[in-house]
Amino acid sequence: MSKIFDLIVIGAGPGGYIAAIRAAQLGLNVACIDDWTHDAGGPAPGGTCTNVGCIPSKALLQSSEHYEHAAKHFGEHGIGVGSLSLDLKKLIARKDAVVRQNNDGILYLFKKNKVAFFHGRGSFVAAVDGGYEIAIAGKDAQSLVGKQVVVATGSSARALPGVDFDEDRILSNDGALRIGRDDGQVPKKLGLIGSGVIGLEMGSVWRRLGAEVTVLEALPTFLGAVDQQIAREAHKAFVKQGLKIELGVEVGEVKKTKKGVSVAWKDAKGQAQTLDVERLIVSIGRVPNTAGLNGEAVGLEIDPRGAIVVDDDCRTRLPGVWAVGDVVRGPMLAHKAEEEGVAVAERIAGQHGHVDLDLVPWVIYTSPEIAWVGRTEEQLKAQGRAYKAGSFPFMANGRARALGDTTGMVKFLADAKTDEILGVHIVGPLASELIAEACVAMAFRASSEDIARICHAHPSLSEATKEAALAVDKRTLNF
Ligand code: FAD
Ligand code: NAI
Repeated sequence: MSKIFDLIVIGAGPGGYIAAIRAAQLGLNVACIDDWTHDAGGPAPGGTCTNVGCIPSKALLQSSEHYEHAAKHFGEHGIGVGSLSLDLKKLIARKDAVVRQNNDGILYLFKKNKVAFFHGRGSFVAAVDGGYEIAIAGKDAQSLVGKQVVVATGSSARALPGVDFDEDRILSNDGALRIGRDDGQVPKKLGLIGSGVIGLEMGSVWRRLGAEVTVLEALPTFLGAVDQQIAREAHKAFVKQGLKIELGVEVGEVKKTKKGVSVAWKDAKGQAQTLDVERLIVSIGRVPNTAGLNGEAVGLEIDPRGAIVVDDDCRTRLPGVWAVGDVVRGPMLAHKAEEEGVAVAERIAGQHGHVDLDLVPWVIYTSPEIAWVGRTEEQLKAQGRAYKAGSFPFMANGRARALGDTTGMVKFLADAKTDEILGVHIVGPLASELIAEACVAMAFRASSEDIARICHAHPSLSEATKEAALAVDKRTLNF
């Protein structure tokens, strides 16, 4: 006889584990199934985000920033470090330890909230009286019945057609985060296909650690989804740091060679070029994970992109089946997955969850960081919306000067008549933290004048936010 749960969540990434915890908090009897396994064979809940995404990439970004600061910037502060060395195996081992702390933290949260965790791969068997039968293959193999089901199976890296990831020389995000784990070597030459979020974050890590990095991007525009004034500023900074970024390219044959990988490509003028590198990271987007879910058994609808079809509330067309996170439409971001997980749990419990996809912030954790929420100037122009813009450079901010990090700016876009904030765009130090104020302001439908009239601590980077809000009415005080 199968165990019966009020809710079965398939996938324990940020969408799934958060949905499970919130539903348990609301009194439901919840099971969560996840198949991620760490190197020692045990369960590793947390999904892409914890295992091969947000957390390990930020651990590497931090280590590589420390290394670059010690190598290039400590001298400005009068600090000498003698001869600098890099123990790459240790650096990667630290990243792996950070990941394991997060895996263990989620297992602890499951216990604390009385979520029953099953390690294995979940798939639909059939619709049964009062719910769905879900089979688990793997360590905890058995079959369960859920009165409701949340699918939170996430996404995987997209490969170039005909070029499989071997995670040795041709790497997805997974292999990109393990470079040097076994041999302790930073590649001399590293190639990346795609100058999106992963391309820039991973490219920055390995450039700082000493690799010569070349990024090949198909689109002629750098960071096309980002406000172009911000993107231009970021591009200038990355090129100055030594990242080679080729735009408007056409990638041709990718071959493994004796020593690495050779990529044939055409530049923006159509000239044939070759890039020879030791390792190649392919970061050209991600595809939703639905294979092996056996959704056909119950009639789960998948769109042509491979995503599960859901309405605005994350309901699939099957009664009692929901889907959240990377496996559905919308930005592929951990905090978006979490918000959907909470909202769905609350709806299942009879409450009114809500997610506003227009107010999901984006952050690219390069140096300088790039962060934004709401509309770009290009989007407002395309919509024909009348707007006012104001920006303030970190160069004129006292805290940024003290930090020695004055690249970039904060930019506000506000409605021309009502002054409601329509978008905030930041490139510069700690943009990831500064953007939170903009999210709060926009959620409360604040005007730029509201921000301009609020007292901000001195000296702080957030004063640049206040000054950018003042700049909307052309009344900055410090620039
Ligand atoms: P996932 O995190 O992918 O989790 C899905 C889980 O379901 C996985 O554990 C998977 O093994 C499991 N699963 C799949 N199928 C089954 C099945 N049939 N049975 C059982 N288990 C199954 N986002 C940010 O917001 N900030 C960042 O800084 C950031 N950095 C990133 C860096 C990199 C390198 C990458 C690749 C991604 C990054 N992301 C970041 C994106 C973020 O990781 C994803 O948006 C997020 O993990 C999606 O959460 P999810 O719960 O939908 O899916
Ligand atoms: P992406 O969508 O950010 O960027 C992919 C890039 O590859 C695009 O610029 C695209 O034009 C280019 N491209 C596509 N096909 C190509 C080809 N054949 N040749 C050359 N260029 C090509 O995807 P990425 O970087 O793989 O990241 C996937 C997703 O993971 C992100 O969109 C984001 O949702 C998430 N992520 C979020 C992070 C964050 O929040 N800081 C960090 C890393 C990933």
